[in-house]
Amino acid sequence: MSQSIIIDSEGAQARVRETAAAAFPMLGQSPAMKRVQHLALKIAATDSSVLITGETGTGKEMLARSIHALSPRRDRPFVAVNASAIPENLQESELFGHRKGAFTGAIQDRKGLFEEASSGTLFLDEIGDTSPSLQVKLLRALETRVIRRVGDGGERLVDVRVLAATNRDLVELVKRGEFREDLFFRLNVVQLHLPPLRERGNDIELFLETFLKRHCLRHQKKIRGFDKEAMSLLTSYLYPGNIRELDNIVHHAVLMADEDEIRVQDLPPYLLARPRISAAAGSVHLEATQGRLGFDLGDGFVSLAEMEKSLIEATLNKLAGNQSSAAKKLGISRSTLWRKMKEYGIEM
Ligand SMILES: Nc1ncnc2c1ncn2[C@@H]1O[C@H](COP(=O)(O)OP(=O)(O)OP(=O)(O)O)[C@@H](O)[C@H]1O
Ligand SMILES: [Mg+2]
Repeated sequence: MSQSIIIDSEGAQARVRETAAAAFPMLGQSPAMKRVQHLALKIAATDSSVLITGETGTGKEMLARSIHALSPRRDRPFVAVNASAIPENLQESELFGHRKGAFTGAIQDRKGLFEEASSGTLFLDEIGDTSPSLQVKLLRALETRVIRRVGDGGERLVDVRVLAATNRDLVELVKRGEFREDLFFRLNVVQLHLPPLRERGNDIELFLETFLKRHCLRHQKKIRGFDKEAMSLLTSYLYPGNIRELDNIVHHAVLMADEDEIRVQDLPPYLLARPRISAAAGSVHLEATQGRLGFDLGDGFVSLAEMEKSLIEATLNKLAGNQSSAAKKLGISRSTLWRKMKEYGIEM
């Protein structure tokens, strides 16, 4: 456990523990999510900056809101901003405010989001996409806790807790010189990583059932669950859009369903249209979507060798037997492909 996490007092720690079970709104029983929950509860009571990382739709904003809701700042504002979505010439005034007449269109004095979030939490979303000039200004504000409205001589002290999120690899961006290392360290006092849904095991079923209930309630429908085939498809799908995508899929299915169970035909058609590579062992399916793999083992099992053989066959079939293209797609040399084809008795 990181030693850089400081809990402000034992009382606060106890208080957080007390409210924890009831208040933490994010679903998840998987070890990875339990770890996130444990850390989030620990740091909620502090004023520490937190960097939340994870693919799109993994719940970064929801986690930021949860941390705020569990913090002593909960009755103060939570202000979320995606600075990269604001035109560059307006970013500074949006974040730090401006004085009347500071630029054309500045018809009156205006507070920026740092001041709007006063005594509360400022959530800097998509931090990895901020321009170098804004990064400098953010760093200064975070280091000094002082801001200056555009066109204003005076400085103002601000009391905000900063949470930041990104779906990009900031370490890599720092290496490439696209993100300031000092700002990275300033934000990364504690890092919480939200794993992709496909790494959260049985949580998928928990999400499916919870969202099914939620959408049924909303649309006043009575659906008791998913039939076997739909469930098998939904639990083997890889969800590149993570929880947001799963939510949309269930919503779609609830709108489409005519029976009291969700069936495969109620699911969005794109789920069924994915390429399926049938493996040798009857009920086993290997599925490739956007370069990622998913397995539906059905009632069977398959050895790595069988899988490798099937994958090579399927790739060669798809490429009309072109061995050098197949080797490239499989990421192996032509001679390795040739050796494996011989080993598995694959003839083309
Ligand atoms: N653990 C969870 N429990 C319940 N709902 C969740 C959970 N995680 C995410 N969600 C829901 O999934 C959706 C996407 O979450 P959110 O907007 O927080 O993701 P994000 O990581 O910020 O995505 P993006 O990178 O695209 O901005 C929201 O509707 C959110 O309420
Ligand atoms: Mg988000």
